[in-house]
Amino acid sequence: MDEALVIRDARPSDAVGIAKVHVATWQSTYPGLVPDTYLVNLSEAAAAMRWHNAVQAHGPGQGALVVADAADSVVGFATYGGRRIPVEGYDGEFYALYLLDEAQGQGLGRRLMATMAERLQEGGKRTAVVWCLRDNPARWFYERLGGVRVAERPIRFAGKELVEVAYGWHDLAPLARLSAGPEMR
Ligand SMILES: CC(C)(COP(=O)(O)OP(=O)(O)OC[C@H]1O[C@@H](n2cnc3c(N)ncnc32)[C@H](O)[C@@H]1OP(=O)(O)O)[C@@H](O)C(=O)NCCC(=O)NCCS
Repeated sequence: MDEALVIRDARPSDAVGIAKVHVATWQSTYPGLVPDTYLVNLSEAAAAMRWHNAVQAHGPGQGALVVADAADSVVGFATYGGRRIPVEGYDGEFYALYLLDEAQGQGLGRRLMATMAERLQEGGKRTAVVWCLRDNPARWFYERLGGVRVAERPIRFAGKELVEVAYGWHDLAPLARLSAGPEMR
């Protein structure tokens, strides 16, 4: 990992930076998966307002992390908290995980997952799921980190029928230990 990059808790003042990453990563990740009209109409200003409110409103056991570069610009973010959609046997959820293209492939995704797992454990969760579009290659990343496919559901998003799959970790402890470095794998 680039030594200048740090993972830290998000602050309301990160909202504009998170929104830029949100829009850029959706536009690079989801063409062909999510309707183009939805992607081209994404607005950084609207996203910034939502992220500002979301970061301020995080309650106990919920949170947002950012990856910041040497200039404190956000290059990635991740959010987590209690499970939103019932999946039997799982109580926590990784809500979102997005890195700019140039920040991918350096182990930051693994470290963000590990840090989220630690935080969920601190909040009393022992297990967690992540929902991912079935056709998003990111699902191989979740499998690489030990996630097991535990559920599938159809969703309607921006007027299109899509399928989401859930990957689950029935014990967050090994995932949390990955933050200690690749030698712990
Ligand atoms: C998915 C994502 C978060 C992964 O983060 P990353 O920092 O690039 O991944 P890492 O460098 O930590 O990779 C960890 C391991 O997963 C593997 N991996 C990562 N992405 C992968 C992919 N798409 N397919 C297969 N393996 C993958 C890596 O090769 C690495 O393997 P290793 O243990 O052998 O070294 C990142 O690529 C991303 O932001 N993608 C676009 C947004 C997205 O789809 N988010 C998920 C929405 S559900």
